[in-house]
Amino acid sequence: MLLPAVLLLAAAVQASSVDSLYPNLTDASVITHPTYDPIPKGAKHESRTQPTDGSYNYCSMPHPSVSFYQAPEPVRNGTANATLSAVVYVQRHQKRTAYHIYPYGEDQVYDCTDVHPSGTISPANNSLAQPAQVYAATFVDDQNPLNQYFTKSTCQFPQMTIGGFLDGVQHGQELRALYGDKYHVIPSEYSAEKVWLRSSTATLTQNSAAGVVRGLWPDINSPVALHQESGNIDSHEPSCDRADALLSAAKSAPAWNHHLNVSADLRKELEGMLFTNNSDWRKDWDHYNDNFQARLCNGYPLPCAQDNSGKCVSNDQAASVFAAGDWEYNYYWVDRENVTEAIQLTSGLYIADLLKQVQDIASGKSSLTYVHNFMHDGDMGPLAGSLGIKSLRWPGMASNIAIELWKSGSATYVRVLYGGSTIRSRFGNMEWMALDQFVQIWSRFVPHDFVQQCAQPL
Ligand SMILES: *[C@@H]1O[C@H](CO)[C@@H](O)[C@H](O)[C@H]1NC(C)=O
Ligand SMILES: *[C@@H]1O[C@H](CO)[C@@H](O)[C@H](O)[C@H]1NC(C)=O
Ligand SMILES: *[C@@H]1O[C@H](CO)[C@@H](O)[C@H](O)[C@H]1NC(C)=O
Ligand SMILES: *[C@@H]1O[C@H](CO)[C@@H](O)[C@H](O)[C@H]1NC(C)=O
Ligand SMILES: *[C@@H]1O[C@H](CO)[C@@H](O)[C@H](O)[C@H]1NC(C)=O
Ligand SMILES: *[C@@H]1O[C@H](CO)[C@@H](O)[C@H](O)[C@H]1NC(C)=O
Ligand SMILES: *[C@@H]1O[C@H](CO)[C@@H](O)[C@H](O)[C@H]1NC(C)=O
Repeated sequence: MLLPAVLLLAAAVQASSVDSLYPNLTDASVITHPTYDPIPKGAKHESRTQPTDGSYNYCSMPHPSVSFYQAPEPVRNGTANATLSAVVYVQRHQKRTAYHIYPYGEDQVYDCTDVHPSGTISPANNSLAQPAQVYAATFVDDQNPLNQYFTKSTCQFPQMTIGGFLDGVQHGQELRALYGDKYHVIPSEYSAEKVWLRSSTATLTQNSAAGVVRGLWPDINSPVALHQESGNIDSHEPSCDRADALLSAAKSAPAWNHHLNVSADLRKELEGMLFTNNSDWRKDWDHYNDNFQARLCNGYPLPCAQDNSGKCVSNDQAASVFAAGDWEYNYYWVDRENVTEAIQLTSGLYIADLLKQVQDIASGKSSLTYVHNFMHDGDMGPLAGSLGIKSLRWPGMASNIAIELWKSGSATYVRVLYGGSTIRSRFGNMEWMALDQFVQIWSRFVPHDFVQQCAQPL
């Protein structure tokens, strides 16, 4: 009976790969006793040597790919005669160096001599002089006395790494193979009538777009518009006093304090080794995650003690750090009290932008068939929460949401993917949902009067 056993095994592997996106993060005991392997796996260059199977991979999250993509069930089983008409896609930028280095000295030397970052400017009128190409070459000066607090790194933290750039190109190639070659919503040549790209104002998301766009259209040789709102009013992260107040309240709630208590011993051990005993590092588990993620995703080891004792952060300690990061994301965007209002006031204006695009495309008012946004983990978290995700681990590098619009006769259906597989949502079956129902669900997260709501004290 060899064949059935093999089939069973294949089915089990298939199921468990997507399960890795949804561990149960409700109970803070997951921090001291992780029920899954939370440790990021990465290398300096491309982080993936083989096609992904849809499982969680912090350093390069799964995305829609012919290697595991499945059409929606009613299309697969012949119940619906529908064609994919458009995709609205949002992703976090690809992998990078760290934001947070140790306050009393960072020992890890990061090497960025293998990438040339740049922010260029050129006249829109190409009859005028065009720019010479320059790039940022970060150098180390031994004469600078401040060097003692820093490594001899040749990176501008948190710059994108060579692996991040290459992963972006591959990400674009795989999207094109699926949504271009197979489903024809990504046109084979870039066209402003069909394609609209947006990023945050950060260099990271622009660098990410540069790699992904190369993968989407390998032969493109004219500049492409990457739409941005003015940083002062950018709807993807507007300032809002009440959102800040909700966050403070969430960070003094019993569940939050309990998770800090559960992880207090770990914190003490790490402070002894890394001299991270300042308030910024103590308020949550963000900085440890960021610093350890950047190391592991780019081929550097976990840190060793700064006192030359030879002790290094163990795998068990790191696993708890990463599980704590996952717990915090799930708390912020799934489990905390007032989560709906918190999402509204954090990402509601951005959700309104995306909803309008979805509706305009569905009604035929817009000719777009492909929209691609380059954003941050701080966007992916609330967006996934607004779509009712059942459990949310830290949205890793290049984590992504795809909103697919399927046309069947005159009706439009929505299918929502997270990490390339249908999102497991508390709000209904997002494998196949009538457009109106989807719009109704998502609209709950659009603030009715943002300015007035933000001014209300808690
Ligand atoms: C997750 O764990 C909590 C606490 O242990 C439990 O109450 C809950 O039912 C679990 N949820 C799922 C979906 O298994
Ligand atoms: C096809 O899938 C739909 C949606 O999941 C389901 O309702 C229907 O029963 C399935 N039909 C067949 C023939 O399997
Ligand atoms: C499915 O829809 C297409 C396009 O509207 C049509 O040409 C085709 O005949 C339909 N197929 C079935 C099986 O209904
Ligand atoms: C572009 O620059 C050329 C050369 O200076 C000028 O003749 C032309 O009017 C400019 N075009 C626009 C649209 O400004
Ligand atoms: C939740 O909202 C209510 C009503 O505005 C408020 O009284 C309460 O303090 C909030 N709690 C948290 C943790 O946000
Ligand atoms: C956390 O620990 C502190 C100090 O030991 C204690 O006062 C507090 O009640 C604990 N909080 C929770 C939620 O366990
Ligand atoms: C952190 O620890 C170092 C070394 O023990 C000490 O010099 C420093 O004052 C401490 N800083 C804080 C904010 O506690």
